[in-house]
Amino acid sequence: MSVHKEVTKVTTNTLQRMKQQGEKISMLTAYDFSMARILDDAGIDVLLVGDSASNVMAGHETTLPITLDQMIYHAQSVVRAINRCLVVVDLPFGTYQGNSKEALNSAIRIMKETGAHAIKLEGGEEVADSIKRIVGAGVPVMGHLGLTPQSIYKFGTYVVRAKEEAEAEQLVKNAHILQEAGCFAIVLEKIPAALAKRVAEELKIPLIGIGAGSGVDGQVLVMHDMLGINKEFSPRFLRRYANLYDQIHDATRQYIADVKSKDFPNENEQY
Ligand code: KIV
Repeated sequence: MSVHKEVTKVTTNTLQRMKQQGEKISMLTAYDFSMARILDDAGIDVLLVGDSASNVMAGHETTLPITLDQMIYHAQSVVRAINRCLVVVDLPFGTYQGNSKEALNSAIRIMKETGAHAIKLEGGEEVADSIKRIVGAGVPVMGHLGLTPQSIYKFGTYVVRAKEEAEAEQLVKNAHILQEAGCFAIVLEKIPAALAKRVAEELKIPLIGIGAGSGVDGQVLVMHDMLGINKEFSPRFLRRYANLYDQIHDATRQYIADVKSKDFPNENEQY
C-alpha cells in the first residue's frame, strides 16, 4: 500500500518515508478555510500557506508586503479546515532575516497562534543559524532555494535560476547546508531539471519542486494557478487542471441575468 493511503495524518516522517519508497509528495498552496477543506478532503499531502497570498489573495505585485499577522490569519483559517494533511506556513519577508532570535520568535508565533505543523523560509547559508535555532526549539523547518521570490529585487527578474555553473554549485552547497541545519524538506523553485534531480539524489530529505522538473521527490503549485483562477500567469512549468476563471465568470453572468430578468428567485426559492 502507498504511504499516502496508509496514513491518517501526514507528518514530516511520512514525507521522509515517501522519499525512501519513491512515492511522490503532492503539495499545493491554500490560504482560506473553504479551499483548504476541499484540497485536504481530496487527499493532498501538504498544504503550504504561502506568502504568495500577498499576490493571489491581496493583489500585491510581490510577496514582500504581507505581514506576519496576515500570514497568521490565513494559516488559522487553513488549519481549522484540515483533518489529514501537513500544514506548512511561510515566514514572510522581514520577519526572520535580521537574526536567529527574530526568526525563532516569528516561528513560535506561527506555531502558537495557528496550530500549523511547520514553517518555511527562503535562503541558504545566510539563514542556517536561524534554521538550527528554530529546529532546536522543536519546530520543523522547510527550506526554499532557487528562485526565492522574497529576493526578487536582488534578482531583478523571475527567470530560471542557477543555469550558470557557479550559481548551480552554490545551490547544491546551500541544499547540503540546509539539510545539515535540520530542514525536513526543501522547495526548489524554477531551476534546471537536471540540477534539481542531482540535488534530490544527493540529499536524504525530500526535495519539492516548482518548475524544477520531474526528478525531485514531490511537486508544489500555487492553487490559484493550477485551478485556472489566474488568467495572466502562464509559465512553462504550470499545468492547469481547471479553468475556474471562466467558470466563475460565466456563473456570475448567468446570476446577473437571472436577477435582472426576475427569473431568480422562483417560487421554490423563497419562503
Ligand atoms: O509562497 C508560495 O506560494 C511558495 C511556493 C511557490 C512554493 O513559496
